Amino acid sequence: MAAHDFDTVLDRRQVPTSKWDRYPEGVLPMWVADMDFPVAEPIAAALRDRLAHPIFGYGGPGPATLRDVIAADMQDLYGWSISPADVVFLPGVVPGFNQALKAFTQTGDRLVVETPVYPPILAAASNWGLTRVDVPVLPVSEGSAIDIGQLTTALTEAKAFLLCNPHNPTGKVRTRTELEAIAEACLTSGAVIISDEIHCDIVYGGKKHVPIAALSQEIAHRTITLMAASKTYNIAGLKTAYAIIPDAELRRRFTAASLGMSEGANVLGLVATEAALRHGRPWKDALLSYLEANRDHLIGRLGREISEIRINAPEATYLAWLDCSALELGDAYRFFLDKAKVAFNPGPSFGGDDQHVRLNFGCPRALLDEGIDRMVRALSQR
Ligand SMILES: Cc1ncc(COP(=O)(O)O)c(C=O)c1O
Repeated sequence: MAAHDFDTVLDRRQVPTSKWDRYPEGVLPMWVADMDFPVAEPIAAALRDRLAHPIFGYGGPGPATLRDVIAADMQDLYGWSISPADVVFLPGVVPGFNQALKAFTQTGDRLVVETPVYPPILAAASNWGLTRVDVPVLPVSEGSAIDIGQLTTALTEAKAFLLCNPHNPTGKVRTRTELEAIAEACLTSGAVIISDEIHCDIVYGGKKHVPIAALSQEIAHRTITLMAASKTYNIAGLKTAYAIIPDAELRRRFTAASLGMSEGANVLGLVATEAALRHGRPWKDALLSYLEANRDHLIGRLGREISEIRINAPEATYLAWLDCSALELGDAYRFFLDKAKVAFNPGPSFGGDDQHVRLNFGCPRALLDEGIDRMVRALSQR
């Protein structure tokens, strides 16, 4: 076995998982953002060590050692200077942005989101009785940027902007210039920035993630940044994430809004997160090479074998946003599920149309090929 094995196909139906349990056997799941890879060995080792102590009571506010490594990582990866005390541990990024909305908005307020976007971001406004104002990102063929003019208009009298960067589902990494314009628009309107940066680590060649709060002190003091090791290290089921909130008053209000619903993180998740951040870099580097090759393989095969599908190489994430309109499938998600037995995420769940699907290529190459083979076969039998 190679030092980092991403090729072996493991039978995940042996344990309960959202990804493999939602659809019947015979359907290949390529939907939820969960990878079919085993965790890095240092994470497995740290969990085994923790299991040797047989008591699993509440974890408290989270270990100081983990706060320190998060602060060091922010400096090292992004040149962003934060204090360990700025970190608030959470059971997830989704609980985190909901908690932020509870803290900084009131019923009837306006919340701005990009569309298409990750479904729980789309749904968040209705959780809190907010008016959602959508700003469509430009089509993938035009670079998936946010139209700053539209954003500025949308932010008029808005209380918050819920940003997704890197962007799910297009895989777009927002540039520093674009983020500066977004931040400027938010500062002008007075909107709080809630920035979901869960995919910050999975960024491919030549691109660099910039946390929006790292742009300036002024922006940092208006921003709740949400991150986790969960997507990168495939530990989402361990329910651990964190908010970084440099502004003491925003942090106080955010923490007070937990209301017993999203307090603290999972004790095993904290252990796994610390092991990932301290010792996981070599695995992460190998993962990124593997995923980037998967991405290129996917694009190459689709280009040769299903050239009607329009796809831009995602700059980040292991998710690809496929525009199937030229295939005239009707509902593309339904077609691929019923005829190819491959489960993608349907475009409408992101606020897109039914000609789009999202494909997860975070899997062994053999499974990716199996998915593409099934698509090709189903299309040839139409
Ligand atoms: C943009 C984005 N935010 C949040 C999440 C999930 O966050 P969590 O499981 O930490 O609540 C996902 C999972 O796919 C995601 O893509």
